[in-house]
Amino acid sequence: MGAPIIDFKDVQGVILRGYRVKFARHFILSITDTQATARLLQSLINGDAGLPQVTTALRREVRPASFLNVSLTSAGLSAMGVSDDDLKTFDASFQQGASSDAIATIIGDVGSSAPQNWIGGLGDGQQVHMLISLWVRESTDVMDSITAKLNDAFEGAVKVLLVQDANALPDDKIHFGYRDGIAQPTVIGMPPNNNIPDDQPPVATGEFLLGYKNQIGGTYRVSPSQLSTNSSYAAFRILEQDVAGYEDLLKSFSEQSELDTEMVAAKICGRWRNGNPLTLAPTQQGSPLPSEEINNFTYVKPPAETDDTLGLTCPIGSHIRRNNPRNGAVVGTDSTHHRIIRRAMPYGPVYDPKKPDDGDRGLVGYFVNASIHNQFEFLTGQWNLESDFVKSATAPGGEPEGNAVFNISGEDVFLGVNEDESSSFTFAHDGKNGANNTNATGFGRTIITRGSVYCFFPSITGLSYLASLPTQ
Ligand code: HEM
Repeated sequence: MGAPIIDFKDVQGVILRGYRVKFARHFILSITDTQATARLLQSLINGDAGLPQVTTALRREVRPASFLNVSLTSAGLSAMGVSDDDLKTFDASFQQGASSDAIATIIGDVGSSAPQNWIGGLGDGQQVHMLISLWVRESTDVMDSITAKLNDAFEGAVKVLLVQDANALPDDKIHFGYRDGIAQPTVIGMPPNNNIPDDQPPVATGEFLLGYKNQIGGTYRVSPSQLSTNSSYAAFRILEQDVAGYEDLLKSFSEQSELDTEMVAAKICGRWRNGNPLTLAPTQQGSPLPSEEINNFTYVKPPAETDDTLGLTCPIGSHIRRNNPRNGAVVGTDSTHHRIIRRAMPYGPVYDPKKPDDGDRGLVGYFVNASIHNQFEFLTGQWNLESDFVKSATAPGGEPEGNAVFNISGEDVFLGVNEDESSSFTFAHDGKNGANNTNATGFGRTIITRGSVYCFFPSITGLSYLASLPTQ
């Protein structure tokens, strides 16, 4: 069967297109008047009343100066008039919402990351209804002028709970100094990823859009049909990063492992700070690899010289390997069932080690998928928080060289709920049952959650349906 034809003009752009912008502004809103909100949505669909039009995934010859997308929470859909019976057909985790105790516990939003510590009242999920995100390519003037128009349009319709800005850092870097935005899934039905190709299997359209076949041959759908095909879900996350704390962690790991701090940084992430993957640049970071190479690798690749089943080069517990084990053997299914599209950007000023501060900086944006439960939440709650998901596997040399299951410990250094007394990160070496491994220990969290919203991006058809509901 051929690739499905995606109706790009019905799909919100953020799901399938990377906007590559300098600035973003996320408005997190509570609906105060449904009729007025319906008019606001209609104006955004049409791009009238002085407001920008909702950006679709349709490719354009000329890139616009700005992009806008709209999503709603379960409470927001309910406020707009979606019935309880219909809401029950939505993703189970979406229905509960990111701030519910059950979800927060599953994904590690506990302690300092717990909903009661979130900003903007996001911890009270019932009042969080809608997110409008604006991305601007170049100019803060464009951002300011659209913001003024939006603020006028919000009057009498919605209350602004939080405005969260984001700003790109030079060279696509994020705080902690790594280059980001390299690896994304290739979605069936989309043109091949010409910017940064890889040799990963393309992922079924239905993993990112409702109404299309997913990896197991099923189709995620919701009721009513207007909200189903071409819609998607995302986890919106505000993740604060403690840069000074991370640099201290690197020093401590360096002392414990006798590796230099840059190599430690590469081992934790799986990529050097310039983006080169350890798999392709095992001993030193070197110059940035060309885009056709930088994401073109797998971990299990016999013969012995190229194979890294055991994670001796790229640790099995590194961030990129936990979040996409590629062809590494995992318990249950394989990585193609848990891919996500990342649409996040840094926020806050660059950390200057010469003028240390504990300012507010981190990463904010959407982690897009057709099943929050099976994709974002699975990655966050299982592969990032556990170390027993790796399947027994030996290198081409057999058992004496070691087994993958012994070469991972603890939780993801970035996303884990790491506590001084229990944290652990494995630097693997040849040897049966991990005999020669070094485990770095005694580290805490350097990334905490400051806010989280599970949202639903309706198709354009779905937005029109929602805009019509209050008058029915
Ligand atoms: C502040 C928090 C985070 C930091 C500092 C961070 C850092 C990074 C970096 C440096 C990369 C490599 C660049 C690239 O491959 O494009 C990466 C890749 C990735 N991250 Fe994160 N990340 C964060 C949050 C998350 C979250 C919340 C998730 C979702 C569970 C996630 C999932 C992934 C995935 C799926 C990849 C690509 C893996 C691959 O396909 O090889 N990250 N991250």
